Amino acid sequence: KAEGRSTTPSFAFEELSSTPTEHAEVANGYNAQVLMRWGDPVLSGAPAFDPAAQTSAAQARQFGYNNDYLGYFPVPGAAEPGRHGLLCVNHEYTNEELMFPGLGVQDARAKRQGREPFASMTPELVAIEMMAHGGTVIEVKREGETWQVVANSRYARRITAETEMEITGPAAGHPRMQTNADPTGRKVLGMLNNCAGGRTPWGTWVTCEENINGYFSGTRTPDHPEARNYQRMGIPGRWMNWGDYHERFDINKEPNEANRFGWVVEIDPFDPNSVPKKRTAIGRFKHEGAAGITAKGGQYVLYAGDDQRFDYVYKFVTAGTVSGDRIRDKDLLDAGTLHVARYNADGTGDWLRLVHGEGPLTAANGFNSQADVVIEARRASDLLGATRMDRPEDVEANPQTDKVYVMLTNNNQRKDDQVNAANPRSDNRFGHIIEMLPDGRDHASTRFTWDILVRCGDPSIAAVGATFNPATTKDGWFGMPDNCAIDAEGRLWVTTDGNMPHKTGRNDGVWAMETEGAARGTSKLFFKVPFGAEMCGPEFTPDGETFFVAVQHPGESDDENPNAPPATFENPATRWPDFKPDTPPRPSIVAITRKGGGRIAV
Ligand code: FEO
Ligand code: CA
Ligand code: CA
Ligand code: CA
Repeated sequence: KAEGRSTTPSFAFEELSSTPTEHAEVANGYNAQVLMRWGDPVLSGAPAFDPAAQTSAAQARQFGYNNDYLGYFPVPGAAEPGRHGLLCVNHEYTNEELMFPGLGVQDARAKRQGREPFASMTPELVAIEMMAHGGTVIEVKREGETWQVVANSRYARRITAETEMEITGPAAGHPRMQTNADPTGRKVLGMLNNCAGGRTPWGTWVTCEENINGYFSGTRTPDHPEARNYQRMGIPGRWMNWGDYHERFDINKEPNEANRFGWVVEIDPFDPNSVPKKRTAIGRFKHEGAAGITAKGGQYVLYAGDDQRFDYVYKFVTAGTVSGDRIRDKDLLDAGTLHVARYNADGTGDWLRLVHGEGPLTAANGFNSQADVVIEARRASDLLGATRMDRPEDVEANPQTDKVYVMLTNNNQRKDDQVNAANPRSDNRFGHIIEMLPDGRDHASTRFTWDILVRCGDPSIAAVGATFNPATTKDGWFGMPDNCAIDAEGRLWVTTDGNMPHKTGRNDGVWAMETEGAARGTSKLFFKVPFGAEMCGPEFTPDGETFFVAVQHPGESDDENPNAPPATFENPATRWPDFKPDTPPRPSIVAITRKGGGRIAV
């Protein structure tokens, strides 16, 4: 399939113009339907969205804020698996300045400048924010070209910052995981900042806690018991003032609570009463995603990026093998080996083992058990000499070729003397995509080869050093790759975070990219988001006839443009998707189908 293509991209769709707009737009010939918006009812009895009368009780039953990852699971026994399923949705974070009236320009501006933004916040507004975090499960059905959310579904679920979860794996019960509220170290309330995720072959949703540092406040004194650990994670970040009202988010009142966040959470979407499990064997860091594939020997392999400048790419290989049976496989993610990547200059690479007692991971360096290794996975990786990357985001494996794609979104702090073969540009403002191939096409292998698929940015500016295929048009290039999906032909559908009119002359969106043959590295604009939004959640249905995407934080300020006014509830950058004068913009899921039916990826 790969050979013999011309440099003309094989994607037949008519490319969209990259001109930024306040609307979302899809390429000609497709429908883009807003399926679910922040505040829409999820659980039975949920009130209709009323932005002027928000309550935490209402938000707990309504769709949360800032939809990111989307996972589609066919409903068991569905006659047409691509037309009847569950959608699992991450709610990564909240934009209080856009959600709540009257917070004012002062708060929004202060937040942008990294100062205390909370003058107008109240305990009830914080409670609403906590209910707007976490995740949602909805049942969805397609009829003709239209999708609908099934009302009062037995599967419907909201997960929030207060949902009870179990801690499993090597850190469960460890003294560093114990708190006043939970002396067992095995029970935690909520999951936070869940960015991307994945689906397992045994039918579970894996959802990843990313920037958890921002929820904690207090003072990290040198004698704080977790001072070294918290410094490496940027705790406390105090992006939110939850610690003013909840002791557990204050690191001086509850010194270990922040060790209970930063994990991969596994959830059974088919049982709304199931207890989500924080799988500590996979390590604690700022998890972007966890996309898995089964290795030749049957082990399950989860690839994951740690999204911070100069942090690492990881993979977890289970000890057991996949049977596909949901009962037998249900705790597979509790035992296995965590690895971190080293990219060698000769195009080879090594997966270094994060195992207590091996190499430097000993008591002499403060690692007394595997619990210490997983809690401080970043520091362990520092000692192993892993390669410091340009903000690793989504990592996805192509099941046909076994090639693994790593989205590296940007790193404007890399200096000339810090470049390496895998991160070749200093001041890397536009990011790049790495392609890796495990030795023997075995994802459990500890060796791999790698290459750079594309360096992103504007190819017409020589100093940027972008390397898109020359067949790419002026609309077809992008910066800041973040998430991706792989279609049935093995091509990438890349979504971005950080394209803005003043920076790249375009908003974020979905770009379809060729990966093989003469057209390799050619991309084409398929969908674009409104002003201020980021594009998340790309997910095909198993029939390839629907493509779900998540429009996150529409209307947000352009933080890097000093001339842009701060966006607020009263003055957002767009009022998508409702465009009503008293309604703020609403993060929403969009279902894309082909007019007249058929596969999306043509
Ligand atoms: Fe939540 Fe790494 O983006
Ligand atoms: Ca995001
Ligand atoms: Ca992301
Ligand atoms: Ca991002």
